[in-house]
Order: sequence, then C-alpha cells, then structure tokens
Amino acid sequence: MHHTSVALTGLGSYLPPQRITNDSLCDRLDTTDEWITSRTGIRSRYWAGPGVATSDLAVEAGHRALKSAGLDAEPGAVDLVVLATTTPDYPCPATAPDVAARLGLGPVPAYDIAAVCSGFLYALAAASAQIVAGLARTALVIGAETYSTILNPADRTTNVIFGDGAGAVVLSVASDQEPGLLLAMDLGSDGTGRDLITIPGGGSRGRATMAEPAVDGHYFTMQGKKVFTEAVKRMTESSQTVLDRLGWTPDQVDWLVGHQANVRILNAVARGLGIPQERAVINLDRVGNTSAASIPLALADAAADGSLTPGSRILLTAFGGGLTWGAAALTWPDITAA
Ligand code: UT7
Repeated sequence: MHHTSVALTGLGSYLPPQRITNDSLCDRLDTTDEWITSRTGIRSRYWAGPGVATSDLAVEAGHRALKSAGLDAEPGAVDLVVLATTTPDYPCPATAPDVAARLGLGPVPAYDIAAVCSGFLYALAAASAQIVAGLARTALVIGAETYSTILNPADRTTNVIFGDGAGAVVLSVASDQEPGLLLAMDLGSDGTGRDLITIPGGGSRGRATMAEPAVDGHYFTMQGKKVFTEAVKRMTESSQTVLDRLGWTPDQVDWLVGHQANVRILNAVARGLGIPQERAVINLDRVGNTSAASIPLALADAAADGSLTPGSRILLTAFGGGLTWGAAALTWPDITAA
C-alpha cells in the first residue's frame, strides 16, 4: 500500500502588541530583572489586553499561516482545524470551531487539544495522522494561548515566565521528495505527575459553585523545580527516540527547536543529545513561555532571521503539564513565513 507523506506547507505567527518587560513586572512583584534573566533567560513577554481571547490570537496566526501556504481563507482551503491550547475561550465548547468559522473555512471538522506545553506536538500528530488516514488532505494546526488570563497576579514564579501568543502551520499531503516532510514523531505522558502543573478549579473534580465565587483554584500553578528536572529528562529521551528512529546523529540536526520554557532547560537538552548549544533556537528571551504556541513561534522567529533554510534538518521537542512530552523531526520547507 502506498504510504501518504505529510509536509509542512505554511507557517504564521502572531503576538499581541503589549510587550511586558522584566522591569515592568518588578513594580508589582518581589522580583528582579537579574533573577528572571539569569534563572530563565526571559527578558520580555507579550500579554493580550483585557477582552482579548485565545481565539483572537489564533485567528490572526491562522490567517498568516494560510497566506504563507498560498491559500485564501475560504471554504475548501483546508479540511481540518486542530487547535492546541490550555487557555480556551470557554470550558465548553472547544475554541477551534469558532476559529474555523471566523477564518471562513466552512463546515470543517475542528477540535481542541489539551496537552499543555506539549499541545502543539500532540496537535501535529493528530492532524498528520488524519491526513495519513485519508480523512483530510490539508490541515491548519494552531497553538494559541493567553496565559495572562490564568496567572495568579501574586505568584512571581509563574508571572515572570509565561506570555501570550499564537503560531500556526499548514500541513498537506506531500510527495516524498519535497522539503518540509514530517519524518518521525514520539509522544508520551505520565499522569502520576498531574499535580506538578495544574489549574485545580473549574473541572469535574473542583467545580465552581454558584454560592462561592471560585478564586485561587482557577489560577495556573506549577512546581517549577520538579518540572525542570522532568522536562530535561523527557525532552532529551523523546528527542533521542526520534533521532534513533531516523538514524540521525546529533551533528545531522541543523536546528533543535524546543519548547521555550527556560534557556537552562534547552541548553541541558542540547547537551544531553550532543547537539551544540548554538544550534538550539532561542526566542524565549523575547516572548517568554507561550505554552502550546511556543514551538511555532520559535519556528517563525528562526525562519524570519534566515536560520531555517529549505532542507534544514529540524528536531522539535516539548514538555508540559499532564505530564506530557514529545518530539518530532522534519526538514524545513521552501516557504515564506507570515
Ligand atoms: O512550560 C511547561 C514546562 N515548564 C517548565 O519547564 C518550567 C520549569 N521550571 C523552571 O523553569 C524553573 O524551575 C523556574 C524558572 C520556575 C524557577 O527557577 P529555579 O531555579 O528552579 O528556582 P526555585 O523555584 O528553586 O527558586 C529559587 C529561589 C527561591 O527562593 P529561596 O527559597 O531560595 O529563598 C524562590 O522563592 O528563587 C525564588 N524565586 C524568585 N525570586 C525572584 C522564585 N521566583 C522568583 C522570582 N523572582 N520571580
């Protein structure tokens, strides 16, 4: 039987206009630019203002990805929309159908993926599998977040790390020869670590009641130190699995594009894999940790500065709440990111 190949054929990204510097956070939190920069590598992040929802960022990034793929936002442009997010517009319904409708994509299947910071890789796997199975020929895969809406304003650890933003790619049925092919993926989870990254309230275990307005339970919490250790271990292992599957040596990886959580994590993963640190794409200094939007935003920055060229061998990896993790390998396509 002929095996269907899937290629990345478009990339778009969007950041909300309001840039939040480290110094501006020091005004209201007990923190310093020195601590944030040295412990995380982050210098600024972007936060959506009041009234801006995740779908608003997703629509912008989606438009740009379609444009980058040479597609008009119209019915028939794509036949699947998958949105990875931890900050959906509502607990119900999913945000993806709204995004598909506002992009004018017609009555396509559209659903959300909840895998926290690994969400983009999970969405990539789901969409590419639907293409391989013949359920779609072209898919729009979006990672979009507004963590600013779930941060506890009193929690200095999370406030300094997370940012808002959206990135999107178009996946299409491909010929085996073209650059941009998705070559291998690995995904995993460990639910015993569910409490390390959580929003405890609002779900079936901690439902908000009409009687007592839920407050703290609706904020995002993270046990940073434990997450750090797990993130390095899982991203390194998952990446190694993908490299082994392809028979790639570390020096065959042109760019390591990891989830932008912490520069120390990314350096440790590169070191663990034997990939020189200079080949790890870093844009968290500018955008912070944007969770499911992180990888496409990093790809967009690396494409914009000319680092990614057609045929470049790219290793993606992510780790997040769940716990979840994953890695993927692809070659860079001949596209202009928007
Ligand atoms: O995106 C999903 C995956 N997420 C991640 O991968 C995040 C992983 N974790 C991390 O990146 C790091 O653990 C953090 C950046 C969150 C924290 O860095 P750390 O080096 O692990 O610091 P720590 O939590 O061990 O805290 C060290 C000290 C503590 O003070 P004491 O107990 O030593 O007196 C904290 O209270 O730093 C303090 N601290 C801060 N100080 C100034 C924590 N946050 C801050 C802050 N400003 N913002």
